[in-house]
Amino acid sequence: PPSHPAWPWPAFIAHRGGGRLAPENTLAAMRTGAAAGFGMVEFDVKLSRDGMPFLLHDDTVDRTSDGSGLASELDWRALGRMDFGGWHGPDFAGEPAPSLYAVARCTRAHHIHSNIEIKPTTGHEAETGTAVAREAARLWAGADLPPLLSSFSEAALEAARAAAPDLPRALLIEGPVPADWRLRQQGLGCIGLNIDARHADEAAVRDILDQGATLAVWTVDDPDLARALFDRGCHAVFTDALRHVRADAPGLVR
Ligand code: G3P
Ligand code: MG
Repeated sequence: PPSHPAWPWPAFIAHRGGGRLAPENTLAAMRTGAAAGFGMVEFDVKLSRDGMPFLLHDDTVDRTSDGSGLASELDWRALGRMDFGGWHGPDFAGEPAPSLYAVARCTRAHHIHSNIEIKPTTGHEAETGTAVAREAARLWAGADLPPLLSSFSEAALEAARAAAPDLPRALLIEGPVPADWRLRQQGLGCIGLNIDARHADEAAVRDILDQGATLAVWTVDDPDLARALFDRGCHAVFTDALRHVRADAPGLVR
């Protein structure tokens, strides 16, 4: 894949850490992504009731742990008693709730880069953007490349910008790329867009790249689609199909 000065990170990003090979958004997932040869992982971060930034995709812990409830109504101590790996398979039973702190230590120790998706529990957008960006700036201080912050939530991105203006940010787009994307992206001081592969048609991709924004596409599990996107100039793809990436031949292969 081509490299782009505005996109200093790797072109392949392991979605939720380890794609389908490990329980999403856990330390085991980050280790799996690193072991599969990825130079970068994406993960979702929100806040516990008592304000601890930790990794979780959904508003509730129900799908990805043996507990239940909204993240915003559970204290970090309570989250610490839950199993975030057993749902995926017995090999991962007992996998702990991953704090952003632990994930920063893990990814930095493995020398892989991070895309921190700020994923606020509904109603907690600004406070999550502030806390996650502030913590990320502290945890990645001195790293050779900063983590890329991203979010579907413009309120979270505004708050992240105020809390840690030097950390790069990307605007996540759900559904088709809206006509006013450039205004929104520039208004938020974002370097570019992260868009859904189902809407990464040639015209949308060309429009985004022609206007000088960065472009990463999620989630791309088909090697032919990855190749087509890179041929059109996309900077990076997020993938769940980790088996298709080989450390000795970066890129999705059949
Ligand atoms: O950040 C890219 C992608 O992770 C966005 O969708 O739902 O997997 O967090 P989702
Ligand atoms: Mg995500």
